[in-house]
Amino acid sequence: MTLWGELHSEPPDEQFVTFSSSFSYDRRLLPFDLEGSRAWAFALARIGLLTRKDVQQIARGLRQIGKRARAEPAWLDQHPAEDVHSFVEARLHELIGDAAFRLHTGRSRNDQVALDVRLYVRDTTRQLMRALADYAFELIRWAERHDEVILPGYTHLRRAQPILLPHFALAYVEMALRDLERVGQAQKRADVMPLGSGALAGTAYPIDRNRLALELGFAEVSENSLDAVSDRDFLIDVLYACALCGVHLSRLCEDLILYTSQEFGFFAMGDDVSTGSSLMPQKRNPDACELVRGKSGRLVGNLSSLLVLLKGLPLAYNRDLQEDKERLFDTVDTALGSLKVMRTVIGGLKVDVAACRVAAAGGFSNATDLADYLVRKGVPFRLAHRHVSRAVRECIDSGCTLETFPLDRYLAICDQFGPDLHQHLTLDAVLSARTARGGTAPLSVHVALKRAHKRVLKALAPSV
Ligand code: ARG
Repeated sequence: MTLWGELHSEPPDEQFVTFSSSFSYDRRLLPFDLEGSRAWAFALARIGLLTRKDVQQIARGLRQIGKRARAEPAWLDQHPAEDVHSFVEARLHELIGDAAFRLHTGRSRNDQVALDVRLYVRDTTRQLMRALADYAFELIRWAERHDEVILPGYTHLRRAQPILLPHFALAYVEMALRDLERVGQAQKRADVMPLGSGALAGTAYPIDRNRLALELGFAEVSENSLDAVSDRDFLIDVLYACALCGVHLSRLCEDLILYTSQEFGFFAMGDDVSTGSSLMPQKRNPDACELVRGKSGRLVGNLSSLLVLLKGLPLAYNRDLQEDKERLFDTVDTALGSLKVMRTVIGGLKVDVAACRVAAAGGFSNATDLADYLVRKGVPFRLAHRHVSRAVRECIDSGCTLETFPLDRYLAICDQFGPDLHQHLTLDAVLSARTARGGTAPLSVHVALKRAHKRVLKALAPSV
């Protein structure tokens, strides 16, 4: 028997049935469908539409379905269903008989699925926030283990100025903190209860929706039934937060792939997250990072899929909305999987301190500081920049560095150079100069590192 009674003169086409079924994936919503159905049964009982006995039977039946599904996942495969909602109704009917058919009073699968997805999002955003925090903690721990390591900082992938390794790591922690905030915001948007909106126009029974929301643990109740059954903005929020998180992970992966290459040689990736080649015996490939970088494409794709899915929909519910779930589930799985793998990658990352230092000191990365030296002697910055660029050119021509360039040649360029210039050129001096808030001076970075852990904990707080 179909859910839509006897109006239709023909049974549904078999191929169409297969085509339209979502049960293979929306079964993930089962625990939430059971939770919502239970609350709905009690709401109906409160207005006298279900007897005490009905509710007890329904609650027991729903519990049994949940229990069996957990213990025996293959059970779900034995019952072809259009979706998780029809599966639950059919199984409940098998278990308790006609009381099961009273449960759908005043409710539509449209407000039911909107509820289920919101409950799912509430649950998984918590997991996402936890995973983001764990990833950020891993970065912080790695930074703490290497808090004196100096790396070259890049612009345009050309050596620019030296930075501390924790400064590099904390840049990614900042991104994770913003990701945490965004996932938290998405969670808040999902925290609105749509149940009691009916198919589109509101339910025709005097359901106390505020009480229902309280029981289901929602902070708010939807204000407009048309919007409530067709709103998926909160999913866009989740998918956007995850897409941007994926972009951040992808950037980190790109850095790590470069820095662990033979050409850079700053870090080495753990063998547990590297692969070899079936042909070239010497290879150690950074597949974990490449996959995370690659999978970020899915996260971006899922976001744009959902935006396109929604853009042409007339009010209110349209079956197109069924297409939201695979995008959502794939996004959550991909984001959680990527965050977990990155923890392992970061945890096993070895650092070649000497190679980092040599690279940080090379490439005239202290040239800005030599210009700053002249500025302190009263030379306008633009002129100081010109003098130093000339010194750099002459160094390149004669194969020396700013440290070994003879003083008389400096003086030939500008008479404000003096023998004290060398003390401003050391890596330590260059780093220590950057004490302004947010800079890479060791003191600032160590304070930032100390604060980072607390900031992550604080960002995590709304999810618990
Ligand atoms: N499976 C549908 C979905 O995921 C929910 C059922 C509503 N279907 C309907 N024909 N009104 O959106």
